[in-house]
Amino acid sequence: MSKRASTKLAVVGAGAVGTSLAYAALIRGVASEVVLHDINEKKVRAEALDLAHGSQFLPSVSIDASADVAVTAGSDVVVVAAGAKQKHGETRMDLAEHTVDLMKKMIPPLVDASPEAVFVMVTNPVDVTTQAALKISGLPAGQLFGSGTVLDSSRLRWLVAKECGVAVGNVHGYICGEHGDSETPLWSTAAIGGVPLNEWEHQTGQLGESKRDEIADRVVRAAYEVIDGKGATNYAIGLAGTRIIQAILRDENAVLSVSSLLDDWHGISDVCMSVPHILGAGGVRQALRLPVSDDELDKLRASADSIRSVVRRLGF
Ligand code: LAC
Repeated sequence: MSKRASTKLAVVGAGAVGTSLAYAALIRGVASEVVLHDINEKKVRAEALDLAHGSQFLPSVSIDASADVAVTAGSDVVVVAAGAKQKHGETRMDLAEHTVDLMKKMIPPLVDASPEAVFVMVTNPVDVTTQAALKISGLPAGQLFGSGTVLDSSRLRWLVAKECGVAVGNVHGYICGEHGDSETPLWSTAAIGGVPLNEWEHQTGQLGESKRDEIADRVVRAAYEVIDGKGATNYAIGLAGTRIIQAILRDENAVLSVSSLLDDWHGISDVCMSVPHILGAGGVRQALRLPVSDDELDKLRASADSIRSVVRRLGF
């Protein structure tokens, strides 16, 4: 259970992602109070009612909702999942301008209501959203960051686990960079049950270069595939967001690839981008400078440049 006596989680945005995240957070029992906030009063109340009707089957929790930002006051964690949906054929970056305008309106009242909260940005394009929201909020970088590639790393681990016939929990490895088209897997530090991937390939013949490329490509295309079939992704991002919230509220010092403002990470600075970070009660404690190959670093630099160019174009 939580290390704090009572913990309040605010989920901002009652769309497919926000409500799935709230649902996962309730089932996991990560907070003693969960509130939903959305500009659509009727919808947000209905979503909260539907969740509250399942209270008998949940760990003890209080659930509330409102279109008034006051409902979020005094939160320990605020998750921002409000924004436009990525339509079929659109990239996450296509949403940047609209999202940044929304953050300019939304972030100041949320910070006023919960100045001590850790803010987790989920709205896409999440790296751009995070960098804009960080500047708008004036909060320290550790206190506001994005869900980043926690989900993509999970997709990677799942695909590797299936390919090799091992439990997903025993696959270690990260997708880093943009949560989007320029992201890249860090194969050189990936391992299965402590066996480095190159050694695994040597011993089993599995996960050769073409298979790795195929897996990396499937991770990049994963969201497009889901959006093509059902119009949005929601369950896996809800679980990934809940994993992040749990690391904060239980002060776990868990290592997760969230998107945070980098300061000389292998020479990369001044951009919000995912690399493995240690996450605990106050938010991001530190970025891990895990070793990267020259090729991986080149790709991460390119990813940083592509995020930075959008961020600069939008005036941040
Ligand atoms: C995805 C969305 C959340 O990757 O960007 O599923």
